[in-house]
Amino acid sequence: MPHGAMTSIDDLQAQLADQNYVCGRALATVAFLALTLQRPLFLEGEAGTGKTEIAKAIAAALGRRLIRLQCYEGLDAASAVYEWNFAAQMIAIRKAEALGGEPPDLFSDDFLITRPLLEAMRPDPAGPPVLLIDEIDRTDAPFEAFLLEALSDYQVTIPETGTVKAPAPPIVILTSNRTREVHDALKRRCLYHWVDYPDHAREMEILSARAPEAARALSAEVVAFVQALRGEDLFKKPGVAETIDWAKCLLALDIIDLSPEVISDTLGALLKYQDDIQKVEGAEAKRILDEVRAEMA
Ligand SMILES: Nc1ncnc2c1ncn2[C@@H]1O[C@H](COP(=O)(O)OP(=O)(O)O)[C@@H](O)[C@H]1O
Ligand SMILES: [Mg+2]
Repeated sequence: MPHGAMTSIDDLQAQLADQNYVCGRALATVAFLALTLQRPLFLEGEAGTGKTEIAKAIAAALGRRLIRLQCYEGLDAASAVYEWNFAAQMIAIRKAEALGGEPPDLFSDDFLITRPLLEAMRPDPAGPPVLLIDEIDRTDAPFEAFLLEALSDYQVTIPETGTVKAPAPPIVILTSNRTREVHDALKRRCLYHWVDYPDHAREMEILSARAPEAARALSAEVVAFVQALRGEDLFKKPGVAETIDWAKCLLALDIIDLSPEVISDTLGALLKYQDDIQKVEGAEAKRILDEVRAEMA
């Protein structure tokens, strides 16, 4: 197998498993196609379902650099691509003045601060990097339009110096927690996959990859309880990250099986809103646990 490639869907699953990432068949298929056809991959789903993590796992498996553009409200094109280092430019001017030398070239690489999008277009001896555009739903329509353009020809323009075109397209992975709908035009450029919560079997696999020290019996109860909790009417359902955190908390407390008291005492690992915690604490925790146990028996 050539290093730095994924030769089939099975191969991709195996290579991601080596990175402790459990990739279901549907996600593996769309990821394989995105890599093979060099199309951006758009992953949408609830928080904590492994969207960001798969980008890290793919980069590690392929031996590529991971470049992450964390989106936030108010992120504009300029700060996603590059900035000029004004302070350094000022110092250079002062220095030239003081020494009576030639004025410096203010728009040279010396003063350029590269941001993720520019970084991702630059040649890399290890091969095209993985560009993770994370939580795109936090930005706004103008930024999406700008991204659409950058991703259509894999180039960005710096007015003062010119256009930088990627020698080969980076591996682009966009994620969204769907706090709003991302525009169709951007989605259409990508291969799309909805990342759902894993079923019991897959969540067990994830847990054994990420918290291998947990005994199987405890893991099975933990996963069953979290899965039942996701069926409750909560403001914010626990993701896979929370399942792993909770298992680790229980391990740290040397707990070998669940009880309503233990659950109530450690709910903060699973639920992050006081209203949700209040709802589940005590009697409700007991009811869910009883149901889970009855089903497992
Ligand atoms: N399929 C998976 N395989 C292995 N770990 C996973 C998987 N899904 C989620 N995780 C774990 O959950 C954590 C949170 O996942 P993350 O990718 O940050 O979620 P999000 O979908 O919000 O980006 C990861 O750090 C990882 O430990
Ligand atoms: Mg994420």
